[in-house]
Amino acid sequence: VISAASAFLVDRGNYRHFMAKEIHEQPEVMSRTLGQYLDFTTGRTALPAHLPFDWKTLDRISISACGTAYYAGLVAKYWFERLARISVDIDVASEFRYREAPLPQNGLAIFVSQSGETADTLASLRYCKAQGQAIAAVVNVTTSTIAREADVVLPTLAGPEIGVASTKAFTCQLSTLACLAVAAGRARGVLTDADEQALVSALAEIPRLAAQALRLEPQIERLAKTIAKARDVLYLGRGTSFPLALEGALKLKEISYIHAEGYAAGELKHGPIALIDDKMPVVVIAPHDRVFDKTVSNMQEVAARGGRIILITDAAGAEAATVDAVETIVLPAMPATVTPMIYAIPVQLLAYHTAVIMGTDVDQPRNLAKSVTVE
Ligand code: AGP
Repeated sequence: VISAASAFLVDRGNYRHFMAKEIHEQPEVMSRTLGQYLDFTTGRTALPAHLPFDWKTLDRISISACGTAYYAGLVAKYWFERLARISVDIDVASEFRYREAPLPQNGLAIFVSQSGETADTLASLRYCKAQGQAIAAVVNVTTSTIAREADVVLPTLAGPEIGVASTKAFTCQLSTLACLAVAAGRARGVLTDADEQALVSALAEIPRLAAQALRLEPQIERLAKTIAKARDVLYLGRGTSFPLALEGALKLKEISYIHAEGYAAGELKHGPIALIDDKMPVVVIAPHDRVFDKTVSNMQEVAARGGRIILITDAAGAEAATVDAVETIVLPAMPATVTPMIYAIPVQLLAYHTAVIMGTDVDQPRNLAKSVTVE
């Protein structure tokens, strides 16, 4: 009843589906979310004043979530390790809640959840609380159970997300977690003031870059025709693009019902390459970064076996991708730290337009609930 009421209250505007509307709201809601955690005048992060932990003495961060929220946490693992030199243990909540993981004396447990009511995530929170961890919740519903049981809440101001497939909540989770990782890096002295200011100005570019990414929609709508004909699709990525490959595969399968799998590009040789033929589209998510050349060789292996590639990259990547049979989606150049929030957008649009072609119920896909409040 509540979701129907909120669906009634939150109108679809002139979008065909709530999911389309929510994909297009991302520049605005990421701007709102970032505005809570960044001080654009000083160029510094501005987290809540009294955090229930000390970044400098933290031994480990545990992150636990489900589905798309888990993939946001997986991106954050790379950020905390690289920007703050904190070790991060991450697991899907349905596994974490039963693992009885030994947790450190000075540990922070971060729970990421759009609804704040996911049963497995809540159970993991309660385990960590019982183990004396400081509890932080990155949630879209600040009146939710997970929010109420956390020591500190970091809201994602995505607004009501009606589409079952999470889009704007995901990029707002990433925006929040990026601010957290930068603040942690500065507090631990890993980042200098200048580093922090450079990262904050990169994060400030997100709304503009997201708006530019949305302008690629017509090309992506055309590419969806290729995906719609496929029985299986493989998504590849490295570094922070690896969780995006997992998210891209989840988006596609949950709304178009086409089987898809996300993989670390470096794992191609360890099995998935046996799948490659001219019937399997391979979506490669690869900004032109320090591991780009490794991904080019993966693409050459795919092309040599007749695989058809859709490469999501930037102009430098398009230039350097010496591979045949490639359709290229070219995003603007941007600092590495913001690529996950921006590269998520073509991934979302590709899944959305494929589902529209398939004629599925895009906002309420079969068998799925917006919040999984039971095990
Ligand atoms: C994502 O598109 C799905 N709707 C699903 O994986 C979702 O992310 C997961 O159930 C977690 O939900 P939560 O963020 O509300 O905890």
